[in-house]
Amino acid sequence: MIKQQPSCEHGGQIFAFAKRNAVALDQVLDFSASINPQTPKIDWNRLQQKARSELPHYPPERDETLSPLLPLLAERFSLKAEQILLSNGTTQAIHQLFASLRPQQSVLFTPIYGEYRQAAQTHSKEVIEYRCCPSQWNDASMPLPQNGVVVMVNPGTPQGNYLSPEKLLPLLEAVHLKNSWLLIDESFLPFIGFASELSVRQWLKRYPKLIVIQSLTKFYACPGVRIGALFSGCAQTKSFLPQLWPISSLDRLWLSQAIQDPGHIMNTRHWLETVKPKFLQELVQLPIVDKLYPGDVNFVLLRFTQPVGRVQQYLETQGIMIRPVQSFGFSAYHARLAIKSAPDNTRLIEALNALSRPNTEKQYARNNAL
Ligand SMILES: Cc1ncc(COP(=O)(O)O)c(C=O)c1O
Repeated sequence: MIKQQPSCEHGGQIFAFAKRNAVALDQVLDFSASINPQTPKIDWNRLQQKARSELPHYPPERDETLSPLLPLLAERFSLKAEQILLSNGTTQAIHQLFASLRPQQSVLFTPIYGEYRQAAQTHSKEVIEYRCCPSQWNDASMPLPQNGVVVMVNPGTPQGNYLSPEKLLPLLEAVHLKNSWLLIDESFLPFIGFASELSVRQWLKRYPKLIVIQSLTKFYACPGVRIGALFSGCAQTKSFLPQLWPISSLDRLWLSQAIQDPGHIMNTRHWLETVKPKFLQELVQLPIVDKLYPGDVNFVLLRFTQPVGRVQQYLETQGIMIRPVQSFGFSAYHARLAIKSAPDNTRLIEALNALSRPNTEKQYARNNAL
């Protein structure tokens, strides 16, 4: 039985934000969750037709060989369908994995997506954190658990740095020799590419205790569609997740179309290559921005000259959300921003610019004091 989890801090709490500020969802600009602003093309009429015929029935995923989604994912990620497990979002899978593995010892490379810490603390006897880039791991000062669990996120969050699989190889070998499970979260890797050489999933056969955690909600712009994937070369992994009906038919119908949109990958690449450099250039020129950590994916870490709480308060009056990163162990001046469409980025830049002007600050402080 899975214990009830207290929830950890997340970006993207747009419903609460909209309610608090009495605004419609589409009036809110959410820079706090790093979701692709390029949305895949969906044929809603076709979706509706299919939903009409499928929703009166239980989904086929009870028998994974019948799932129409697995072959599509297998093709996209260059895997065999039997190497892919579906879950109701990777967040749920993370908790289920730890609840099943119940390790004596878990090692987390931090900063890390908060749910790993939550799940590890709930289900492990001991949790050790190494606050360093996994490529800097060394055997002498960072012992690894025997028959335990080791977790890392690549590209990392909140900095967005990507490590090639070759840089991780010493760690993969060492975890393998310790007979521990290695969870590598590659949720943001599709923003760099889908080629197998970019991913440790090329080594699933070589390392049977390697599990790649692949969120689909970032790249396919669908956090409301609760489907996540695990990649594993080991038949035992299946037993770690409840597999009755892991996903809903409606979610599957949506995601199946999204994966098959022939333009989505190119549109995303083009957007990131053109919009990101301009956004970073504009951000770094703002007086309120003290330091920028560009990263390799669709978000950026920065340090403001003021506490993020104050920046957030002002942006909230403008309907804009950003993500403080104190929960990742950064200072009260650091924040993570998603990269969005050019017009949305401009709105944020203008708002931050206004906040940099002494007048706006005084005005805001006065109003706020009343
Ligand atoms: C690194 C990482 N992994 C996994 C997730 C969870 O994604 P989902 O539950 O939408 O699949 C997130 C969400 O923010 C994340 O940042």
